[in-house]
Amino acid sequence: MRLLSVLMLSITALLAQAQTAPGAAEVSPAAANPLRGLPPVPIPADNPQTPAKIALGDKLFHDARFSIDGTVSCATCHSEKHAFTDGKQFSTGHHGLTGTRNAPTVVNAAFYTSQFWDGREPDLEGQSKQPPVNPVEGGLANHEPILQIVRTDPDYKKAFTEVFGVTDAKLTMDHVARAIASFERSIVSGNSPFDRYYFQGDKSALNAAQQRGFQLFIGQGRCVSCHTIENDHALFTDSKFHNIGIGINAIQDDVPRLAGAFLEAKAKGGDVDRIVLTDKKSSELGRFAVTDKITAIGAFKTPTLRNIDLTAPYMHDGSLKTLKEVVIHYNNGGVTPAGAKVNDFLSGGIRPLNLTEAQIDDLVEFLKALTSPQFAQAVTAAAPRETGHESH
Ligand code: HEC
Ligand code: HEC
Repeated sequence: MRLLSVLMLSITALLAQAQTAPGAAEVSPAAANPLRGLPPVPIPADNPQTPAKIALGDKLFHDARFSIDGTVSCATCHSEKHAFTDGKQFSTGHHGLTGTRNAPTVVNAAFYTSQFWDGREPDLEGQSKQPPVNPVEGGLANHEPILQIVRTDPDYKKAFTEVFGVTDAKLTMDHVARAIASFERSIVSGNSPFDRYYFQGDKSALNAAQQRGFQLFIGQGRCVSCHTIENDHALFTDSKFHNIGIGINAIQDDVPRLAGAFLEAKAKGGDVDRIVLTDKKSSELGRFAVTDKITAIGAFKTPTLRNIDLTAPYMHDGSLKTLKEVVIHYNNGGVTPAGAKVNDFLSGGIRPLNLTEAQIDDLVEFLKALTSPQFAQAVTAAAPRETGHESH
C-alpha cells in the first residue's frame, strides 16, 4: 500500500498549470478558478509537488530522445494541441508502428485510482516507465539509454541535482518517473460551463439544450451511475471497470481460447503491457488481463468525460468517431450498429435507453459543456476543428 496524502494544489501548482496550459495566461473572469468542480489533487507523500520538479517533468515529457529512433516523446501521443491526446484512433510509435488502443488524455489523469484503460498500473509513476520500452511506442530494449541521457546531459544533470539531489549512478528511473508524474499532476483542469452551472449556481452557463441534456445524463440516460458527480466535485468516473460492448464482438467466439492463451503467456512471464498493446485480440480482453477474472472480460476503466469534446475518437479502441455515435451506442443497449448481438459479458448497467433523436442531441450538447476554457482555447488556436464533427 502506498501512502497518499491528499493536499490542496496551491498557488505553486496553479502557476505551473498556467505555464503548461496555453491560453491560461489571459485569465477571463469565467476562468478565474481553473480547478472549480475538482476535488483536491491526490499527491503521494513521497513525491511532493515543487515548481522545479514540475518543470523537469515537462522537459522529460517532451524529450523525443527517449525512443529508439529519436522521434517519439510522451507529447507525440499526448499533445497539448489535442488536449493531451493525439486525435488518432490508434497511436503511432517509433518507425510509424501502431498499437491497439486509443491514447487517453493526460488531463486529470492525476485523479484516477489506476492508470491505463485496464488499470494495469496503480499510479502515474509506474505508468510513465512503460511507454519508452513498449515495442510499438518508444521501442527501447530497456531504460538504460534514458539513464545515459539524463546522467550526462548538462541541463538534466543540473535539474536532477536541484530537484532530487542525485547524479550519476544514484539517478534512477524512479527519479525520472517521479518528475514526469509530478508534471502530469499539474495538468488538472475544471471550470467547465457545467462546473459554473452546477457548483457555482450560474444558471446561464448552460444553454437550454445542455440543461435538458444534463437531466438525461442523471436520469433516463443513467450515465451518472458510472460517470459520477458528487455534491462538491465531479470526476465523471467511478474508477471502476465495465464492459459496455466496445471491441468485444470481434473476439466473442474466440474468448475461451484467447483467455486461456493469455493466462498461459502471463504465467510464463509475459509482460501484460507488451501483450495488450501489440496483440489486437488480447487487447479486447480488457480488465481480465490484470485480474484473471472471467467477469472482467471486455471491461475497461470508466474514463473521465472532462474535455470530451476535444478528444475524439472515443473508447479504448477509438472505434466511435463522434459523441453522437457514443450516445447512440448506449441508446442501442451497448451495441454498434443497432441490432448487433449483445456480448455475453455486458455490464448490467447497460440497457436500451429509448431516447428520441432530440434527446440524443441534447445529451451530446451536454457533453460539450464539460470543456475547460484553457483547453478549448489551446485546441481552437492550434488545430481548427473539422466542420460537421458533431453534425446532427
Ligand atoms: C506511441 C504513443 C504513446 C506514447 C509515446 C505515450 N503514450 Fe501514454 N498512452 C498511449 C496509449 C495508447 C495509452 C492507452 C494504453 C492502454 O490503456 O493500454 C496511453 C495511456 C497513458 C496514460 C493513462 C491514462 C489513463 O486514462 O489511464 C498516461 C497517464 C499516459 N499514457 C502518459 C504517458 C507518458 C508520461 C508518456 C511518456 C513517458 C506516454 N504516455 C507516452 C499512447 C502513448
Ligand atoms: C456501466 C457504466 C457506464 C455507463 C452507465 C455509462 N458509461 Fe460511458 N463509459 C463507461 C466505460 C467503461 C467507458 C470506456 C469503455 C471502453 O472503452 O471500452 C465509457 C466511455 C464513454 C465515453 C468515451 C470516453 C473516451 O474518452 O473515449 C463517453 C463519451 C461516454 N462513456 C459517455 C457516456 C454517456 C453519455 C452515458 C449515458 C448515456 C454513459 N457514458 C453511460 C462506463 C459507463
